[in-house]
Amino acid sequence: MLEQREPMLEVQELYVHYGEIAAVRNVSMTVDKGRIVCLIGNNGAGKTSTLMAVSGAHRASSGRITLKGQPVTGLPADRVVRRGLVLVPEGRRIFPSLSVEENLLMGAVTNRRRAGEALARSYRMFPVLRDRRRQPGGSLSGGEQQMLAVGRALMAEPELVMFDEPSLGLAPKIVDLIFETISRLREEGLTVLLVEQNVSLALEIADYGYVMESGEIKLSGSAAELSSNSLVREIYLGV
Ligand SMILES: Nc1ncnc2c1ncn2[C@@H]1O[C@H](COP(=O)(O)OP(=O)(O)O)[C@@H](O)[C@H]1O
Ligand SMILES: [Mg+2]
Repeated sequence: MLEQREPMLEVQELYVHYGEIAAVRNVSMTVDKGRIVCLIGNNGAGKTSTLMAVSGAHRASSGRITLKGQPVTGLPADRVVRRGLVLVPEGRRIFPSLSVEENLLMGAVTNRRRAGEALARSYRMFPVLRDRRRQPGGSLSGGEQQMLAVGRALMAEPELVMFDEPSLGLAPKIVDLIFETISRLREEGLTVLLVEQNVSLALEIADYGYVMESGEIKLSGSAAELSSNSLVREIYLGV
């Protein structure tokens, strides 16, 4: 199948250090526009560190990050959001004492004037958030908090959404809903970089994937290639 490839995000030779320790070493990857790309790997592999560096939340020690052809390396996180990239962080990170609606509005950093529209869109995507809009974020269930984290990210009208372990600790029904939402985002033309421990589910919805071990990319390929790769099957799919 011949399809036009247009890189949304390019990461080249990325290194991330914590003091002396290199958590990410020489990582290069490309996320094409309109695709879901997953990044898989065991605990401590360096996935979160990679996403933090790409989002501007943690400074890369070296390497280049390019979004829509423009360099964003070293830009602070709020400027990266304005360029169209948002991170739904590991562990949701919502504001527990703010109401659901206030949490959502915190995400509307790029478009205050269109915040009402963006709010309506988040509520259409997750009607339960509308029902609970006046409740404190901290009173929501884990699944609802994940919906809130996703809804808040979408408030910035991103082109690329990075998810860090969105299914962690959630009931299977909620996990299905979150994954359906991620697929729906691709249908709407968004691009997704997905970090996920649930490798079989991730490969089900992804177009392409990278496998990370000990800070380095060990393997990459189409989701179909990775699903049939013996190493992936043995280590990550347990078959
Ligand atoms: N704030 C930090 N300070 C020191 N070491 C860290 C910090 N965050 C992560 N690390 C280390 O960096 C490595 C990669 O961690 P992380 O990026 O969180 O991996 P993953 O998300 O794949 O589980 C691990 O060895 C972890 O212990
Ligand atoms: Mg992590």
